[in-house]
Amino acid sequence: MNQRSNFTSKIGFVLAAAGSAVGLGNIWRFPYLAAQHGGGTFLLVYLILSVTFGFTLMVAEIAIGRKTGLSAIGAFKALDKRFGFLGVLTSLVPIIILPYYSVIGGWVIKYFATYVSGGAHAAADDSYFTNFIGSPIEPIGWFFLFIALTAVIVLFGVEKGIEKVSKFMMPVLAILTIGIAVYVITRPGAMDGVIYYIKPNFKDFSPTTILAAMGQLFYSMSLAMGIMVTYGSYMKKDNNLESSVRQIEIFDTAIAFLAGLMIVPAAYMFYGGSTEGLKKGPTLMFVILPKVFEEMPGIMGTIIGVAFFLLVFFAALTSSISLMETVVSIIMDKVKWNRKFTCIVVTVFSLIMGIPSSLGFNVWGHITFLNDLTFLDLFDFVSNSVIMPIVAFFTCILVGFIIGPKVVADEVKETDGKFKSEKLFTVMIKWVAPIFILAILAFSVAEGMGWITV
Ligand code: PHE
Repeated sequence: MNQRSNFTSKIGFVLAAAGSAVGLGNIWRFPYLAAQHGGGTFLLVYLILSVTFGFTLMVAEIAIGRKTGLSAIGAFKALDKRFGFLGVLTSLVPIIILPYYSVIGGWVIKYFATYVSGGAHAAADDSYFTNFIGSPIEPIGWFFLFIALTAVIVLFGVEKGIEKVSKFMMPVLAILTIGIAVYVITRPGAMDGVIYYIKPNFKDFSPTTILAAMGQLFYSMSLAMGIMVTYGSYMKKDNNLESSVRQIEIFDTAIAFLAGLMIVPAAYMFYGGSTEGLKKGPTLMFVILPKVFEEMPGIMGTIIGVAFFLLVFFAALTSSISLMETVVSIIMDKVKWNRKFTCIVVTVFSLIMGIPSSLGFNVWGHITFLNDLTFLDLFDFVSNSVIMPIVAFFTCILVGFIIGPKVVADEVKETDGKFKSEKLFTVMIKWVAPIFILAILAFSVAEGMGWITV
């Protein structure tokens, strides 16, 4: 614990945390949720939650990490013995996410390979994705490849190299996303789709919209899973915590917004605004973007396709590395296995756990849970809509009432004595956030169980 190396600069910290935050959550998950939950309605709810909830929780988690110098498992216990269970609960999240995250990572490699081998035209047809996903074996092959790459990097400890590459790749990804979004919104007929994405329509609004937006917020900003506590434990006192959080939050939200702008209007346009286009769920990005690239002149589509899927692959890889690192270190702390062995166990476990998520798109498609959830949806639902809100709730109680918000506020003030949003933070963490989370959870459980319909 006392050998923790610190980030040498503020920008180093922001980039590392942003590297974990920006991933498939922003580019793959955000657009399909926005499309599904009423476009502008979802966007508005998300933006409000991001500057209130997201900010509050990220400040709390990073401050807890920096104050205790421990990662989640030890940090909560160090603050209050009775809250040790929170560390265990948070640990479950990356364990559940890593396998299915890697399934989607596999799809990204598949599409990268498609574009490299000149398959741009074929990929634009609906049947391309359907054929790919319809085969039980092929997607599992790409999933194995993705997780193997993650494991090799974690095993040989070459994250630093990958991080260097990704620091350069991330801004390029941001620029490319802007370019594609501009291309999409200037297509004839795209305006209706842009309006759908930007303009809230309150008839689409329901508690499930909020729950989905909240789950997405946690997922995208790597909150409620102990990751930001760990990052905080590496942060120096002279790094300004508040402004770092604001920067990560703005960057992460901007990327998600832009990814939505490049996918949602196109999804609307290609399917004439029908639910068939908007409710594609996890497959949305893979079905829509090839159609966008296909419309580009000459070989532009191929070039953009190669570049895009390569960059998304790197963004996904830095996130899966950070997920696997977290899982490995949790287990090593608990059972004292060596790193190599732990890494292999985690990989094998993730391989086994990921297979149902992949098969849920074909041969196990008929197996569904709760509200028609397939395996991948189920894992995603349990981690993002159940465990994370519970973790967030107890984090609020711990900070708001057990140690007191002042402890976090003082930690924030370590740098220059200031905490500009202290009032907002205090009200949020004590009252608004916990009450709101509880209400939303109750609603969604009731809805999931079929006790109420909204
Ligand atoms: N926040 C990442 C994303 O948006 C997912 C992630 C969660 C990565 C936790 C690392 C740790 O893709």
